[in-house]
Amino acid sequence: KLFDCVIRNAHCATAADIFDADIGIKEGVITALGKGLPEGETEIDAKGRWVLPGGIDGHCHFDQPTNDGTVMADDFLSGTRSAACGGTTTVIPFALQQKGQSLKAAVADYHERAGQKAVIDYAFHMIVSDATETVLSEELPALISQGYTSFKIYMTYDDLKLGDREIIDVLSVAREEGAMVMIHAENADCIAWLTERLLKAGKTAPKYHAESRPMLVEREATHRAIAFAELVDVPILIVHVSGREAVEQIRWAQGQGLRVYGETCPQYLFLTAEDLGLDDDMEGAKCICSPPPRDKGNQQVIWNALESGTFQVFSSDHAPFRFAGNDGKLATGETPSFDQIANGIPGVETRLALLFSHGVNTGRMDINQFVGLTSTNVAKMYGLYPRKGSIAVGADADLVIWDTDTVRSISNDQLHHNVDYTPYEGIKVNAWPATTMSRGRIVWQDGRYLGTPGMGQFLPCDRPTPAKPKVTAPDPL
Ligand code: URP
Ligand code: ZN
Ligand code: ZN
Ligand code: ZN
Repeated sequence: KLFDCVIRNAHCATAADIFDADIGIKEGVITALGKGLPEGETEIDAKGRWVLPGGIDGHCHFDQPTNDGTVMADDFLSGTRSAACGGTTTVIPFALQQKGQSLKAAVADYHERAGQKAVIDYAFHMIVSDATETVLSEELPALISQGYTSFKIYMTYDDLKLGDREIIDVLSVAREEGAMVMIHAENADCIAWLTERLLKAGKTAPKYHAESRPMLVEREATHRAIAFAELVDVPILIVHVSGREAVEQIRWAQGQGLRVYGETCPQYLFLTAEDLGLDDDMEGAKCICSPPPRDKGNQQVIWNALESGTFQVFSSDHAPFRFAGNDGKLATGETPSFDQIANGIPGVETRLALLFSHGVNTGRMDINQFVGLTSTNVAKMYGLYPRKGSIAVGADADLVIWDTDTVRSISNDQLHHNVDYTPYEGIKVNAWPATTMSRGRIVWQDGRYLGTPGMGQFLPCDRPTPAKPKVTAPDPL
């Protein structure tokens, strides 16, 4: 037969178009879009439902070791399983370079962690935490040309942060080699100074995490990162933007004509600092992430920035730590001070349903914008387009058929990650994947996980088009 599978009556949307078609799939690739395609080996009736490109989660953490006894609850199996059940068909987690470790060794280590386990396709961002001469002049250029074309740098966290000069140096390598740089923008010294004062005053509860990292800490670092990018003449992506003052910096840069991109995450739309709890409430540890959730006013600013195009990508920043037990949020004791609690919250499975329900189905954004923010723009940002991120002949058959008829209440016992809570417990959604297909194979259907560990392929990335510096030469025509 011409097709291994035909999806009939698909009401499709891409980042640009809306069309009704049958989708013909052969060997994991979309090979035809049309009306009345011949019968496939298998047939799926989409019943006129939305069929969208599978989600691409461009920011999630799986199986990252830490040095304080904290263990990430999701490895590449449970992490990609959870992603697939929530409609995500590609993940781009991190290969973390420890200080003193070669970047190449870090990448090899994460391939070991992912290879036999991943259920869906994956690429890696590197985390550059030790910008040695060898890393700058040999390892980074070599790895970028081997398909690791994006990396994250940190302006905070003692184990990870780079100084200003190091940031300028790595940005300059990114410019030379055509890589996309993701920046965690918070001012480390301000945080250290505030943390010391809070702890001295006995203010140790989870809620003080937010007071130790106020908006200005993020605003200052965002501006500094933008200035360095301007100096070096290289595009950058500011990740996990939490509120107004950082949005203003990004908009200012965009208004100057700089290629400064922005990412935000569900926690900044659905959580506030109040979710860090009252007084000595340890439950608040569940919502500790950095930057911290802000307030209702800032949530609105984040919605506006998604709608207006200030942000190009919407990611989960899934960072999975269990609340119960002694290797997760409370690894350092039963009542650790806020600065001893692992940063990060889970969300790889709930990202798409939350934005579809509260973004598209409320009329805040249209379906094409949703596809752009959650899939197409992510594929472009990291050099996976056009293989990933669209419904087109020649693209991988990574597809999601959406059920938008059923109202559900998010509940952790329905999720497939290995974390013992979701910060979104009880939030209502009226969109959830009915079927998720990864390269033509069904991995989630009608509430059942059907994936196979090891079927996910590693995706070497091209040099991303958005990472190209602006053309400043005169136009010869
Ligand atoms: O708190 C967070 N976001 N933890 C995950 C690591 C990171 O900085 O993205
Ligand atoms: Zn239609
Ligand atoms: Zn970060
Ligand atoms: Zn992160």
